[in-house]
Amino acid sequence: MALMNTYNRFPLTLVKGKGSYVWTDAGDKYLDYTAGIATCNLGHVPEYVEEKLSHQLAKLWHCSNLYHIPNQEALARLLVENSCADQVFFCNSGAEANEGAIKLARKYGKAVKGAQAYQVVTFKQSFHGRTLATLSATGQKKIQEGFEPLVDGFSYLEFNDFSAIDKLDPATTAAVLLEVVQGEGGVVPADRKWLQELASYCQINNILLMIDEIQTGMGRTGSLFAYQQYGIEPDVFTLAKGLGSGFPIGALLAKEQVAKYFQPGSHGSTFGGNPLAVTAGLATLEYMLNNRIPEQAKELGNYLAEQLKGLQAKYGCVKEVRGLGLLQGLVVEEKAGEIINAARDRKLLILFAGSNVIRILPPLTTTKEEIQEAVTILDQSFQAVFN
Ligand SMILES: Cc1ncc(COP(=O)(O)O)c(C=O)c1O
Repeated sequence: MALMNTYNRFPLTLVKGKGSYVWTDAGDKYLDYTAGIATCNLGHVPEYVEEKLSHQLAKLWHCSNLYHIPNQEALARLLVENSCADQVFFCNSGAEANEGAIKLARKYGKAVKGAQAYQVVTFKQSFHGRTLATLSATGQKKIQEGFEPLVDGFSYLEFNDFSAIDKLDPATTAAVLLEVVQGEGGVVPADRKWLQELASYCQINNILLMIDEIQTGMGRTGSLFAYQQYGIEPDVFTLAKGLGSGFPIGALLAKEQVAKYFQPGSHGSTFGGNPLAVTAGLATLEYMLNNRIPEQAKELGNYLAEQLKGLQAKYGCVKEVRGLGLLQGLVVEEKAGEIINAARDRKLLILFAGSNVIRILPPLTTTKEEIQEAVTILDQSFQAVFN
């Protein structure tokens, strides 16, 4: 195998996708409720995005950020009009977006509070990426092991713990960085009151509130961005995954009073926001807004959660159903892996999160019929594993 051994891959070779389904090289069809890990939010090969991309493909692929790129400016405008941010920086991935956020927090902290104010406080079980700074920001030992020494300036508090807020030191802390629903860590939604208290502490004490919306953003949780359901406004937030419907693109968004600390020379990226990537991003966002996709995700998410609670009532090993919108987790006592494999044998693709959580991430364009199909397969899979 000429590829580095960095992934435990499922034994499937995928060659085609359309809507909620993918096909293997053998011609087998699967209901894809992983959506490329919360990325294909409009389903596979969405026509509107495909058309805009094909058009751009014939015009200009790349030109560097030394020139103006019309769709880059249009996408930034549309993101700003639909969020609390004032300015956007485009990059290529989630980790790169979070790297940018960490750099921006350090610039801000030093300029506003002094050289000692470079700490970024994150939370246990969080996931922020695989680069050296973002794995240092990630509150999981298993992601960090072997890569020490970690980047200096990170500490980790208990998620959803009110007493953790008192442990913040405003003199040394530039920013707090968190996911509104911890995705990789086990589909754990933030407690509403806790997040509001944290946001208000940050505001009073001049600590930046930075939200990692890489998994929760782009309609996934039932609003364009998950923070919008919590009655708070971050100073900074990051996007990737669903932003380009599968075309690689990331974004760092900030309020003007923070964004202004980036000046020419502070930050950059050769491919960031190139004409193809921003065309995919612009088409994705336009389609989402014009077709009320976040609202649909909310309604379908409630329906999916209800159906999953039906499974919980039937199988004692299901301890909890939790999530927001179409980011749902089934917490099981044991055998999560076996259930995922049994579902795959029955042509349904689903994922892990943490050690005992089955994560279900349908495209936001799925239907109640497809949800029913998935829940029937899950039911059969539980029967197969536990009987
Ligand atoms: C919340 C969160 N942040 C950051 C990342 C890293 O994104 P990427 O894999 O695009 O670097 C992920 C990826 O799973 C994520 O879920």
